[in-house]
Amino acid sequence: MRKHLIAANWKMYKTPSESATFFETFLPLIREFRSVDVAIFPSITSVPAVIDAVKGTSVKVGAQDMHWMDDGAYTGETSPIMLLALGVSHVLVGHSERRQYFNETDETVNLKARSAIRHGLVPVICVGEDDAERQAGRTGEVLARQVAIALRGIEPHATGGLIFAYEPVWAIGTGKSATPEITETAHKMIRNYIADSLNEAVAKSTRILYGGSVKPENASSLCGMLDIDGALIGGASLDPGSLATIIHEAAGSRRLKPRTSRLDV
Ligand code: PGA
Repeated sequence: MRKHLIAANWKMYKTPSESATFFETFLPLIREFRSVDVAIFPSITSVPAVIDAVKGTSVKVGAQDMHWMDDGAYTGETSPIMLLALGVSHVLVGHSERRQYFNETDETVNLKARSAIRHGLVPVICVGEDDAERQAGRTGEVLARQVAIALRGIEPHATGGLIFAYEPVWAIGTGKSATPEITETAHKMIRNYIADSLNEAVAKSTRILYGGSVKPENASSLCGMLDIDGALIGGASLDPGSLATIIHEAAGSRRLKPRTSRLDV
């Protein structure tokens, strides 16, 4: 059984001291929840403060982006080697805000995912259709393309804990979360596309998170679905009480629905 992962994407919020203050309230609230993995993705300037704050706990720390090269004349960029030196273990790759505002393409997502894996960082590869694509019935085609290109040139044996996040663009920051049924269907598609690109064993063990307006109120119904292995949370992760409640809800959710996907995990 894949363990749930609750991941907080803090985007461009929280200074180092605000980040440290968050953990003073947050850590006591999640002390008993070993059945759920937790990862925080602060802005790069707050990574050292967060690493310091979670020392001695099982909370993982990730970066929100990285360049694929080890070093070079790339002003403003951060390399995987620099992330490793900070103590980061995970990295978001291809978040829709990077694709939308910073010209991230399927090809650069692939370069970053391959570089992360090569360096022993766990990539959290974000995929998802926008509103027009969903309205046009193109969700499956978009997800198939994004997954296939992201995984190009990656060997199944070297995936090292690879994670995907299904983040429909129309649900991010809009308050309009995808329903558990829509999400479950998309996650089954993504899992099958991973099997097509790598193999069924990797597809079965890969965690697929849902992201897009996850809140304390909808976390349990989403995390209760069989193919939803946790959540990537933006807005609702900024408040320690709200993130802790989502973790409690994920821990208490039950995955009992019958499995109908091609993969019987
Ligand atoms: P949201 O963001 O929870 O604020 O919708 C999710 C994300 O962008 O990862």
